[in-house]
Amino acid sequence: MLTEEKVLNLLKDLQDPFLHKTLAETDGILEVKIKPEKNHVSVKLAIAKTGTGEQLQLQTKVVEILKGGGADSVGIRFTELPEDELAKHRASMPPQEQDQSLLSPTSKTIFIAIASGKGGVGKSTVSVNLATALARLGKKVGIVDADIYGFSVPDMMGISNRPTVRENKIIPVERFGVKIMSMGFFVEDNAPIIWRGPMLGKMLNSFFNEAEWGELDYLLLDLPPGTGDVALDVHTMLPACKEIIVTTPHPTAAFVAARAGAMAIKTEHEVIGVIENMAYFESKLTGEKEYVFGQGGGQKLAEELRTQVLGQLPLQQPDWNEEDFAPSIYSEDHRLGKIYTEIANKVIDIVER
Ligand SMILES: Nc1ncnc2c1ncn2[C@@H]1O[C@H](COP(=O)(O)OP(=O)(O)O)[C@@H](O)[C@H]1O
Ligand SMILES: [Mg+2]
Repeated sequence: MLTEEKVLNLLKDLQDPFLHKTLAETDGILEVKIKPEKNHVSVKLAIAKTGTGEQLQLQTKVVEILKGGGADSVGIRFTELPEDELAKHRASMPPQEQDQSLLSPTSKTIFIAIASGKGGVGKSTVSVNLATALARLGKKVGIVDADIYGFSVPDMMGISNRPTVRENKIIPVERFGVKIMSMGFFVEDNAPIIWRGPMLGKMLNSFFNEAEWGELDYLLLDLPPGTGDVALDVHTMLPACKEIIVTTPHPTAAFVAARAGAMAIKTEHEVIGVIENMAYFESKLTGEKEYVFGQGGGQKLAEELRTQVLGQLPLQQPDWNEEDFAPSIYSEDHRLGKIYTEIANKVIDIVER
């Protein structure tokens, strides 16, 4: 007959498949319950990453061990270790054993996808400016331009050089403290790209795995508009990705954007907020605001998605600077640059609290 203590003893030396530490060391055995009348043992375990092949293997092992120990039936639930526990073990791992990949379960990078229901609402503009604002606040930031067909990040940030390759790794191009990977770097003279489904996922995958990102606090993904293939790939590749939905203020635009939000929720991506872009036009002469694209869409969408409006950006172009040309980046002291700083601070508050 198994007792709680015997079960703990049987399982304590099993290793967390990602951290290579025993469950005793990671405090990974959360619960042991025994039903004597049925000789049933149920355990709750925490590991670095759930929903993986490694979890399945561990599961099989646990069942084997507990049945070997005398249980007639075994129930197992898995959950992920809390971030502070992960951080402890990440720090003590020798560097050569640390999985440097951004997609590793021990990676501390926060992924934020910028999504919208349709194109032309300013998703890329928001992506590049939010990234720049986060970098100005001292964060290590990268952008993946995941709009494979409609890539625009390099042009918007005024990048004319290409990434270099070192030891079979692509070094992302850096501008304004932001590291960038884009399909645009690999296309000659703006030629159109004609690829289909699976290639897109492969391309994205190599942006994560074959690029030398170094340590990143934030990786922003400029998603293609709508809810197509790439959005789905991102959802499966980055299960812990957070999302910001960009919309214009027109109530029908918000309605379209809600579909992107609904998809995020379905795939268990946390929507951390809505950004209303092109919210109004303010006359320089009179200071009067005109709501050229309607009003209220951002708030409506936020309510529908049970989230908050992170900011409202008026219509205005960046000041162009001939020496340091970046057509879509607002400077820090530009009115919109300041709003982006506020939004970046809110994002930091939300995801790091
Ligand atoms: N707040 C704004 N004020 C003025 N122009 C803007 C603003 N936001 C975006 N734009 C312009 O609108 C166009 C579409 O923006 P973009 O970021 O490319 O949208 P998306 O990525 O959603 O397709 C671009 O020409 C961009 O410069
Ligand atoms: Mg775009």
